[in-house]
Amino acid sequence: MGSKFILGTTFFLFLISFSIKARAADFDINKYGAKADGKTDDSRAINSAWKEACASTTPSTVVIAKGNYLAGPVKFQGPCKAPVSIRVEGTLQAPAEPEKLKSQDGWVVFRNIDGLTVSGGGTFDGQGSIAWSKNDCAKTGKCNSLPINIRFTGLTNSHIQNITSLNSKLFHINVLNCKNVTLQHVIITAPGESLNTDGIHIGRSSNINITGAEIKTGDDCVSLGDGSQQINIEKVKCGPGHGISIGSLGRYHDEQPVTGVTVRNCTISNTSNGVRVKTWPASPNGVASDLHFEDIIMENVKTSPVLIDQEYCPNGQCQAKIPSKVKISNVSFKNIRGTSADPVVVKLACSKGIPCQNVQISDIHLTYNGKNGAATSVCTNVKPTMTGQIFPPACAKTAA
Ligand SMILES: *[C@@H]1O[C@H](CO)[C@@H](O)[C@H](O)[C@H]1NC(C)=O
Ligand SMILES: *[C@@H]1O[C@H](CO)[C@@H](O)[C@H](O)[C@H]1NC(C)=O
Ligand SMILES: *[C@@H]1O[C@H](CO)[C@@H](O)[C@H](O)[C@H]1NC(C)=O
Ligand SMILES: *[C@@H]1O[C@H](CO)[C@@H](O)[C@H](O)[C@H]1NC(C)=O
Ligand SMILES: *[C@@H]1O[C@H](CO)[C@@H](O)[C@H](O)[C@H]1NC(C)=O
Ligand SMILES: *[C@@H]1O[C@H](CO)[C@@H](O)[C@H](O)[C@H]1NC(C)=O
Repeated sequence: MGSKFILGTTFFLFLISFSIKARAADFDINKYGAKADGKTDDSRAINSAWKEACASTTPSTVVIAKGNYLAGPVKFQGPCKAPVSIRVEGTLQAPAEPEKLKSQDGWVVFRNIDGLTVSGGGTFDGQGSIAWSKNDCAKTGKCNSLPINIRFTGLTNSHIQNITSLNSKLFHINVLNCKNVTLQHVIITAPGESLNTDGIHIGRSSNINITGAEIKTGDDCVSLGDGSQQINIEKVKCGPGHGISIGSLGRYHDEQPVTGVTVRNCTISNTSNGVRVKTWPASPNGVASDLHFEDIIMENVKTSPVLIDQEYCPNGQCQAKIPSKVKISNVSFKNIRGTSADPVVVKLACSKGIPCQNVQISDIHLTYNGKNGAATSVCTNVKPTMTGQIFPPACAKTAA
């Protein structure tokens, strides 16, 4: 009798798990009234599909099939009852006129979701060209009037893969307050002249993995703000753009440390900068440590492809004479090769208040492709350890 009972129960459990599997559902926005004609605002259809998917107690998928969906703003708000996937096969289009996204900090926003997957090969088209022509951030110092293309805020254990961000009005992708998120094979495209179109910016997040991205844009390809910890950036192709940056740091009070960053196996071509760490002079105390750059190819990078700049002061908006108090330590530059359009191919300008500590340089081969003399490297307030073959010789010049 006992065994019959167990058998019966097992069969019953099998039925339940089978029916759970069968119920794992697709929520196709076209079934929620999306028009996909590139003219009608499809925000409501997307929102309705998301609400049902997010409320599902079993894993679910929102499907954005092929077609052009004008929409905005779009909010994918959690928490959800079970993991949710979004398969974007078509193109989401933002309204071109910036006024239509007024006082929005993001166009498409994913917030407070555990176990999110975004995939499908589709495109998030910010239709930024009108916005770029009206961008006055450099004059006003404020860019708040323009939305970021895609925001990932408060995500955990999530995977973003195989999507394109096109012509964002401001930054393409902003990762904030996230933990354990992989961005795999993300494609980012905007003209080299478009203003403030940073590719991927990360802040206050840990265990973030960016792999296989192809980034062509008008500002930093990848930039890391304060509180970025355990960040892996690999197989990224960058250019045009401003390279891969840590910072700027030290502009504000209460910035969290940046620690544990690896940038590996990347190619940086035709950019204004290569890899850099930048901190503001006259800063509050701060920390940037355990930063590693290796296996990087530079092609025709305009200013010092390898750069630590603790006197970062764009537009002269700072007290340049007061040293930065961001402490930079445990940094390595290994196996970095290629060409520079600036004769100073390596520049390590550390703070005279807090010199850089434990900086290692090994196997560097960077040549100058211009006509103003020979490739050289300059070091200030840092005594790097050197191994392997280094061309040009590191710290050939020590600035005062
Ligand atoms: C990316 O999406 C495209 C289009 O759906 C698909 O053909 C391709 O296999 C996907 N690649 C990966 C790595 O998922
Ligand atoms: C990180 O997230 C992935 C899903 O993208 C998950 O499979 C993995 O278990 C998570 N890792 C940890 C340590 O939680
Ligand atoms: C980053 O993701 C790629 C692809 O999933 C994986 O091969 C690699 O091991 C990951 N790296 C880290 C540090 O998690
Ligand atoms: C990145 O790694 C791949 C595979 O190991 C290699 O073929 C490629 O040359 C590497 N690229 C750089 C820039 O190191
Ligand atoms: C960089 O610019 C040169 C000269 O304009 C061009 O030939 C080359 O294809 C560019 N490289 C990349 C990867 O865009
Ligand atoms: C720097 O590295 C040393 C030795 O590897 C380690 O003891 C120290 O804690 C590290 N410092 C920071 C700030 O990470």
